[in-house]
Amino acid sequence: MAKYKVIVDEETCIGCGACTAVCDNFELIEKNGTFKAKSKKSDVSDIGCNKEAADVCPVSAIKVEEKK
Ligand code: F3S
Repeated sequence: MAKYKVIVDEETCIGCGACTAVCDNFELIEKNGTFKAKSKKSDVSDIGCNKEAADVCPVSAIKVEEKK
């Protein structure tokens, strides 16, 4: 069962790609000429590297929320 929700705030993301370097749950998608990160799976049962991705993002665009 999914225990965590991984959210990327596209407005905040500057497309630096740090999250994709530390966690394979993230990919960069081109949008109107700029790159935005997207989580491949937004509902995960294991927090895994998603927390690390949130920590390395320079603009704190990634949130990992525990589901109640
Ligand atoms: Fe964007 Fe942060 Fe990843 S700026 S590309 S969400 S490390």
